[in-house]
Amino acid sequence: MVGSRDVISLRDLADADIESIVRRGVDLAADPEAHDAPLRGRIVGVYFSKTSTRTRTSFTVGALRLGAQVITYGPGDLQLNTGETLEDTARVLGGMLDGLVVRTAGPQREMRTLAEHCPAVVNAMSAEEHPTQALADLTTMSARFGGLKGLRVLYVGEGNNTAVALAYALSRFPRVELEFRTPRGYGLTPDVLAEASALAARSGGGVRESHDMLSLPAQVDVVYTTRWQTTGTSKPDPRWREVFAPFQVDVSLMSRYPDACFMHDLPAHRGEEVTAEVLDGPSSIAFEQARNKLHSAMAVLEWCLAR
Ligand code: CP
Repeated sequence: MVGSRDVISLRDLADADIESIVRRGVDLAADPEAHDAPLRGRIVGVYFSKTSTRTRTSFTVGALRLGAQVITYGPGDLQLNTGETLEDTARVLGGMLDGLVVRTAGPQREMRTLAEHCPAVVNAMSAEEHPTQALADLTTMSARFGGLKGLRVLYVGEGNNTAVALAYALSRFPRVELEFRTPRGYGLTPDVLAEASALAARSGGGVRESHDMLSLPAQVDVVYTTRWQTTGTSKPDPRWREVFAPFQVDVSLMSRYPDACFMHDLPAHRGEEVTAEVLDGPSSIAFEQARNKLHSAMAVLEWCLAR
């Protein structure tokens, strides 16, 4: 479709694009009716070959709220299962749909193949990156703190696809300090870290990673964690839990930062990456964050599809 845009990796988006999607998400969080159904007459495909509660629901509801009609495909629905190629699938879907929101088990390049033939492809999580999660997270942070300038974020846990997307997104905003504390062997790749650090340096901030939970920043505004077993992945080392144990977010960690919010992309495993006391406690905004996936999904769909 002429004029449509993809969200496959946040690396593809300009600073201004990320800023505008986040700003629009904040506006829609304040007033979810603040639109004139700009996707009226559009058909959006929602194809999830992996489990999802939040992302699939938020994009489906978001598209419907914006006036689109939605066709959904689960893991067993497309002829991909019987051997049709992704390229042929893309050519067929691209001839009928106005947009496609996708979560696959495969690498991000599958979404690029889809985008060669389909308009407005949205990456609803790939192995490498979870860009719409970061956009929703920045929406929550921005709404909570009145903007993102100078925000200090401590991310504790695996350097997974959510971590990658947060690094690419937060590094675009002025003077943001993003500190990763990841278990050794489960951190960000050097490439991601180098690129995000360079972006942050340009913005007057920093992106840093350490594997030492005894060396923590003095002040932060947000403590963020994510489940230890990222959806659809497993860890070959049978003793991985021992490596992750010091990275649990508990009351003792949160008490170092009495004014900080706690965030989690969910789903959570209470007692693993976070204690129930923290997730369900007064500093947690994890469920506000989950609600904002809808507002952010609407902002993404508008950006990709609205004329
Ligand atoms: N955070 C997230 O992507 O949740 P779902 O897997 O439920 O979509």
